[in-house]
Amino acid sequence: MTTVLIAVDHPKSGQQWVKIFQELQPDWNVLEWTSGLDIKADIAIVWRPSAQLFIEQPQLKAVFNMGAGVDAIDFSVIPESIPVYRVEDGGMAVQMAEYAIYGVLQATQRLAPYVALQKQNTWQVLRPVLREQWPIGIMGYGQIGQKVAQSLTGLGYPVAAWVRSPRQSTDEVPLYAGPEQLDAFLQASRILINVLPLTTETRGILNKTNLLKLQPHSYLINMARGPHVVDEDLIAVLDEGHLTGALLDVFHEEPLDVNHPFWQHPQVLVTPHISGVSLRWPTAQHIAKKATAFLAGTTITGLVQRQRLY
Ligand code: GLV
Repeated sequence: MTTVLIAVDHPKSGQQWVKIFQELQPDWNVLEWTSGLDIKADIAIVWRPSAQLFIEQPQLKAVFNMGAGVDAIDFSVIPESIPVYRVEDGGMAVQMAEYAIYGVLQATQRLAPYVALQKQNTWQVLRPVLREQWPIGIMGYGQIGQKVAQSLTGLGYPVAAWVRSPRQSTDEVPLYAGPEQLDAFLQASRILINVLPLTTETRGILNKTNLLKLQPHSYLINMARGPHVVDEDLIAVLDEGHLTGALLDVFHEEPLDVNHPFWQHPQVLVTPHISGVSLRWPTAQHIAKKATAFLAGTTITGLVQRQRLY
């Protein structure tokens, strides 16, 4: 019988995941991992797991991360022979596309001013939004970035994306690649949407120097990880007026400290890391299907490449 360990950072949700996987895979022996557990498991399904799990279970055949980002996994304690897979969508991409659209509506002020006008019982038609004035740049072009791009091109916005290394575009979205094309990408963008993985190369990438390269009166939507942003730089660029606003879903520390200036900043919208929540059933089904295929010897997608961390 296949033995599966669930290791998540929240004990209550650990038990819920155990139940879901037991129901989905009655042929698996599913247990919640605790340190010192006297059992040798085949696979681990994890979210922000303790490094101790990998130290105690070096015989694992594979690890499945419940989210798209693997930045909370300490790869230094996982033997090279154990493949780590991440969720590539799990119902998240469509939610993130929707969140991006909400951010775009904030940026273009398509609806917000009408809320103020309604409060004054005032019927007044404002100038329409001209999409060509709002070129959108997406940083990161995996499954999530592509879904976001599809949704926004579908609404008629000019959309480009920035990727790590050069590759052929497979849709109408032009791709900029690598550090050499970052400036050109930023200069061409007025709404910047970040869905990058957090790596040593991308940490702090949303700093003052880079944010100032965006078109004047631009807008930032961050759905990836807090440490992509240098917080004081973002606040400075907002205060100087180069950026008109930011919709932020992720932060250096979560929950965001009650005294953090983002909370009360008039141009910042804060949400509590909800732009793409892993829906339990779709995520579990996605992982169960992959793990079953993996155990049967089939090659599956979503393998994390350690040297790039996604
Ligand atoms: C959520 O932030 C994820 O990485 O899945």
